[in-house]
Amino acid sequence: ADGATIRRPRWHFTPARNWMNDPNGLVRHDGRWHLYFQHNPNGIDHGTVGWGHASSTDLLTWTEHEVALEADDDGQVFSGSVVLDAEDTSGLGSAGHPPLVAIWTQAAETEQSQALASSTDGGYRWRKHPGNPVLRRGSADFRDPKVFRYEGADGPCWIMVAVEAQDRQVLVHRSTDLRSWTLVSTYGPAGPVGGVWECPDLFPLTVDGDPDRVVWVLLISLNPGGVAGGSGTHVVLGQFDGERFVPEEPLPAETRLSDGSWRQQTTEELATYRWLDHGPDAYAGVTFSGTEGPDRILVAWMGNWDYAKELPTRPWRGAMTAARVLGLTERGGRLELVQRIVGPDGAAETVLRRASDAASEHDLPGVVRVEVAITLRAAEGTVRLDVDDADGRRRLGLRYDAAGASLRLDRPAADGLPAAFERHVAATVRPDGDRVALTLWFDESSVEVSSGGGTGSMTALLAGSATDGRRRLLVDPGPHAVAVTASVGPDDTAP
Ligand code: FRU
Repeated sequence: ADGATIRRPRWHFTPARNWMNDPNGLVRHDGRWHLYFQHNPNGIDHGTVGWGHASSTDLLTWTEHEVALEADDDGQVFSGSVVLDAEDTSGLGSAGHPPLVAIWTQAAETEQSQALASSTDGGYRWRKHPGNPVLRRGSADFRDPKVFRYEGADGPCWIMVAVEAQDRQVLVHRSTDLRSWTLVSTYGPAGPVGGVWECPDLFPLTVDGDPDRVVWVLLISLNPGGVAGGSGTHVVLGQFDGERFVPEEPLPAETRLSDGSWRQQTTEELATYRWLDHGPDAYAGVTFSGTEGPDRILVAWMGNWDYAKELPTRPWRGAMTAARVLGLTERGGRLELVQRIVGPDGAAETVLRRASDAASEHDLPGVVRVEVAITLRAAEGTVRLDVDDADGRRRLGLRYDAAGASLRLDRPAADGLPAAFERHVAATVRPDGDRVALTLWFDESSVEVSSGGGTGSMTALLAGSATDGRRRLLVDPGPHAVAVTASVGPDDTAP
């Protein structure tokens, strides 16, 4: 065995110890970014989960705090959200202290229902609401409430999106006090239905910053059935009127087959839908509440249920993606979701190679941002970028194919990692004239590939040597020209 492992990232959040999956309760409050997360405080496996807690002032350096919410006899504490109840509509605050209210799924043996907890000390200590659960449907798969304030024509109210996971449906509920909820509409089943729907989010964005062009974004995580295999996050654009989400590009309605299962969907069909990320490791992504104005910032779990439970990391297991500032832009008459990675500012920019069609090799540290500028010089031909680790083992292959305008990511199998870790995925990346710009953010054992000015994203964990995070980048431009610069994290050595 070559003893490949997943190295602990430096600037992506990982818990000090034990299991982590989805981000929960993302909220900006009192100048801090609070990140709660699905966490088993007692073990390296999913086991019995509650909410862990970390916070940050810059989304890059995180302080882990005491566990916020723990499982008890009523069930586990599954995913959910946090809002600042500024007017204390819930009555869970105390004089002069409007509460932060967490809305989460109480996952009991046979029923999942929505429950509340409140904090009046800024999100550090939480008290479960004695009236839990506040919303029941007698369902075993009703979960992942995301709540936001909505300013309607008839005054403000709270909106909750949550899923009936097995039914591939998003449920919209409304409330004035966070305690009593009325179902106002449903979305789905439609589009990708190859797995359970989980962790929805719904929020408005402006198109190219134009305050008069507001489009709502519905995120639906599904597992399996994602475009990269296993867990993935589907994106739907549309309008929301306080009751109903109406997609701008309606997708084919789906129904269960007579045996209760769902139609198999091919990779080609999945590729026709919108996805947050075309890589295998961005799941359950949701956005922060409490941000000013149009800012929308997302964090996802950098994992995939296909193999997350078998990753050989100790004493921690699970990482978050970088925070990403979301936007919408119009390109050639089509709306595109844009993601701007919030990463460390590089101390030094190094030109690794100027634009040329020669092949070359370069040393890279474990934490580095690499800018790849491709100039297409022919209608066909492939640019090849390979990344080997310090042991000389191939950990990543990126291929840009000019004829197909597609970017492929190949992650080979690695000894010591589960077989399902091997992935071969692709996404359309249209050139801008004759240019294709890729930004690769490496943080030890992960890469986030951003293309087309943030309109494309591919996130992948990478295998690596347990003892040495340095890597080698191999560039073969084929008939095209490639320039590469590297920008090293503040506390790392130059390449
Ligand atoms: C998504 C998910 C959620 C659930 C949580 C349990 O990864 O399955 O639907 O609330 O994880 O940990």
